[in-house]
Amino acid sequence: MRQAGRYMPEYRALRAKYTLLELCKNPELATQVTLQPVNAHRVDAAILFADILLPLEPMGAPFEFAKGEGPVIHHPVRDRAAVDALRVIEPEDGLGYVLDAIKMIRRELDGKTPLIGFAGAPFTLASYLIEGGKSSNYALTKRMMYNDPDTWHLLMSKFSEVVRRYLRAQIIAGANAVQLFDSWVGSLSPTDYEEFILPHVQRILSDLEQTGVPVIHFGTDTATLLPLQKRAGGTVLGVDWRTPMDQAIALLGTDVAVQGNLDPLLLSAPRELLTRRVDDILRRAKGASGYIFNLGHGILPETDPDAVKFVVDLVHERTKRA
Ligand code: CP3
Repeated sequence: MRQAGRYMPEYRALRAKYTLLELCKNPELATQVTLQPVNAHRVDAAILFADILLPLEPMGAPFEFAKGEGPVIHHPVRDRAAVDALRVIEPEDGLGYVLDAIKMIRRELDGKTPLIGFAGAPFTLASYLIEGGKSSNYALTKRMMYNDPDTWHLLMSKFSEVVRRYLRAQIIAGANAVQLFDSWVGSLSPTDYEEFILPHVQRILSDLEQTGVPVIHFGTDTATLLPLQKRAGGTVLGVDWRTPMDQAIALLGTDVAVQGNLDPLLLSAPRELLTRRVDDILRRAKGASGYIFNLGHGILPETDPDAVKFVVDLVHERTKRA
């Protein structure tokens, strides 16, 4: 959940010299950033330093990260002609730098820490491509989905094929697990998820299942979507803090593992409260068949790195095997 990022002084020092895209596109620098939280906090897994939006550029939709605004897509895609023009790329063409970074990171980790690769899911990618950046209500995205379903499904098919190939390529390059980020899919009703999203996500995840590599299927605000997300696939389902972990497990059953779900803002709370909340999550997760402790969503830039280290140590202490 952005375990490498602006809350770390080591990261800010590199960002003073390079843009975010420069860091992503240079395998040596991406390797360096990926290792920062592993070295500083002893987390159990490294997460590839990249961004979910990287495939947009080779597909034909260049963008930049504007200061203070987040991502800005230069020419938002809003009609059939623009969707027709998007290229269904091979990851080696245009995203080779990510695959090179994975190989380099695996060499540096030397078998001691596993590496998690990742990609954005079709809805979340489409929301940036159509809105042109971040959005509060996804109005343009939903307008295309409801009013031009053929174009919508074509866009979803293009994204699902690119993401399927890209995650397969990450696994071949050496990723030990992959996470599919459907960060904003919680803005949809279960009915719309089932009709407009599920078949496309299912195509990605049923293919990845063949690899035997664990896949984490992540979203936020998904209390009502979890059973459908489970149907779409994944070895592990990400749960955010809005759903108590025991309720998520009761809803999902024990044939799928779960990940989560500390509110990232609790990292700003006094240690006593933070400790109680971590313990509460660990207690609620006891019934899971498989469980990964994590934040429920991305860490905020204002976070104190010592609080992150505190939580990593606390979880290790509470879960160490006799
Ligand atoms: O250790 C890690 O997890 C870092 C790797 C990583 C980044 N982005 C680098 C990054 C990961 C896993 C992502 C995923 C990502 N990117 C998501 C899904 C995760 C989520 O939060 O739901 C999304 C929606 C994006 C798109 C994106 N990238 C946005 C909206 C922004 C701007 C947000 C902001 O806080 O300004 C980014 C920028 C970004 N990507 C940063 C990092 C470390 C921070 C910006 C910077 O360094 O300038």
